[in-house]
Amino acid sequence: MENSIDSIKNNFLDELNSVRNAQDLESLRIKHLGRKGTIQELYSKLKDADPADRPGLGKEINALRTIIEAELNEAKSRYAVRKSRQKVDLTLPGRTPSVGRKHPLTLVQEEIKKYFSRLGFSVADGPDVETDFFNFAALNFPENHPARAMQDTLFITENILLRTHTSPVQIRTMMEQKPPVRIIAPGRVYRRDTPDASHSPFFHQIEGLFVDKRVSFGHLRAVIQEFARYMFGADIHVRFRPSFFPFTEPSMEYDFNCIFCRGKGCKVCKYTGWIEISGAGMVHPNVFRAVGYDPDVITGYAFGMGVDRIAMLKYNIDDIRLFFENDMRFLSQFN
Ligand code: PHE
Repeated sequence: MENSIDSIKNNFLDELNSVRNAQDLESLRIKHLGRKGTIQELYSKLKDADPADRPGLGKEINALRTIIEAELNEAKSRYAVRKSRQKVDLTLPGRTPSVGRKHPLTLVQEEIKKYFSRLGFSVADGPDVETDFFNFAALNFPENHPARAMQDTLFITENILLRTHTSPVQIRTMMEQKPPVRIIAPGRVYRRDTPDASHSPFFHQIEGLFVDKRVSFGHLRAVIQEFARYMFGADIHVRFRPSFFPFTEPSMEYDFNCIFCRGKGCKVCKYTGWIEISGAGMVHPNVFRAVGYDPDVITGYAFGMGVDRIAMLKYNIDDIRLFFENDMRFLSQFN
C-alpha cells in the first residue's frame, strides 16, 4: 500500500507538469480527488491493511491529499490569472499621445526675433508689473498730462501698474547699458479695454530700440519696411503717418497694406486698405536725459509692434480672443 501512495504522488506530479490548460487541470482533479479518484480508492483499501498499520497509512494518505489539493489550487490560480489577461483586447487601436505645439503668437514672435537678430538686435526683458516711473515719467509723460489717458492703465496702487506698453524696457535697458544699444523687447502688455474681436485687456508687443551716434529716421523707415517684406512678401507696402508719443519726436504710426485685400479695401481694414501695426519715432531728448545719456551726442529710434495683430494678418485670424481661449481645435492648426 505504501508503494501505491508513493507512485500516485509521483504520477500526480508528472501529470501536473504536463497540464496545458484549465480542462486538463480539472480532469486531473477528478482523477485524484473525485469520488472514484485515487485518494478515495486508497481510503477504501485501508480496511484491508493490517490494523496496526492503519493510523500511519491514514496519515500518509491525508498528507498526500493535502499536497494534491494545494498543488491543484496553485495551478488553478495561475490559469485564472492567465484567463483574465486574455480579457485584454489586443486588437484595440493604441492611444496616440498628443504632441504639444507652439502657440501661434510664439511662432510669430520667434519669426520677428529672427529678423531683428540678423540686424544685430539682442533680446531684452522687463517686468509686467511696473512703476509709474518706468511706464510713464521716464518716458516723458508729465504728471497729470492728458497723454497718460491715451493708455487705459490698470493700476495696482497709485504708483504701481500693469505696463501698458513695452516701452518701459527702453528705460530699464538704457539705465543699465551705455550706448550703443540695439535691443528688441517682446512681452505682454495690459490695457483697460472691453474684449471684442480686435481688443483684449492684454496683448503682446515687441519694442525696438536703436541708440548710437547719428542714427536717423531713414534707418527706422528702412528697418520697418524691410520687416514688412520679410514677414508678408515683397509686394507689401508700408505707410507712415505723423503721430504723437511723449517719448519720441518726431513720432509716427505705421500701417501695412491690408493683407486680406492687398490694399483694395475690405471689411477687415474697414475699406481703407491699411492695417495699423504700431507707433515709432526718434527717441525724445528728455528720455535720454532721464537715463543719463547726453542728447547732444546720442541719437536713437524706437518702435513698437503689435504681435497679435501681425499674427492675425499672418494666419488670417479675424478675432484676437481666439489666441487666449486655449481651444485645442484652434491651437493645433499652427506649426
Ligand atoms: N509704446 C507705444 C504704444 O504702445 C508704441 C511706440 C513704441 C511708439 C516706441 C513709439 C516708439 O502705443
